[in-house]
Amino acid sequence: MLNLILFGPPGAGKGTQSEKILVKYNLKHISTGDLLRAERNAGTELGNQANEFISKGELVPDAVVIGMVKNFMADNTDAKGFIFDGFPRTIAQAEALDSMLTDFNTEISIVLGLEVNEDELVTRLLLRGQTSGRADDQSEDTIRNRFQEYLNKTLPIQNYYSAKNKYFGVEGIGEIDQIFESLCDHLDKIS
Ligand code: C5P
Ligand code: MG
Repeated sequence: MLNLILFGPPGAGKGTQSEKILVKYNLKHISTGDLLRAERNAGTELGNQANEFISKGELVPDAVVIGMVKNFMADNTDAKGFIFDGFPRTIAQAEALDSMLTDFNTEISIVLGLEVNEDELVTRLLLRGQTSGRADDQSEDTIRNRFQEYLNKTLPIQNYYSAKNKYFGVEGIGEIDQIFESLCDHLDKIS
């Protein structure tokens, strides 16, 4: 299996690049943010609880997102591999993911981090907010809070996978196709 974590701060281009990668490498894409928004839009109990965090730009508790990923993987046992987009967000989630993959007799193949500076992210997300309908893309305060959550809780994951020689950073500013090529250069070496 080819199991990729597409890593990076909010607005780095994880969703955009995932759409291209899943076609080329025939992988299942799991975006926990998309799953949470679908739960919220369906008005489920989980979705309503998650929205309290999403609207403030805070992270939803580990157990909730880990449970969603577990269900997704159980529903896709025929997958050739997964792209994890927006997950893991904490070290606890990374450890849980590693143990879920061990149960699948597989592991994380590679972690590719899209590197984009904070000012560019804020500009991109405010622009996305004009069409995405996402309230958390429309307030600069919420966007900066999401970035703080990323720095405090998510960035340590980079070292977690660097220590396993699995983390590689990729320049995330430039043409979408150029960035895609850089990601493919890494993926082609291991697939
Ligand atoms: O990944 P995405 O940027 O779409 O996530 C949007 C929001 O969903 C985050 O700001 C956070 O509130 C919530 N989220 C989370 N934990 C995840 C993924 C998303 O709390 N693993
Ligand atoms: Mg996304």
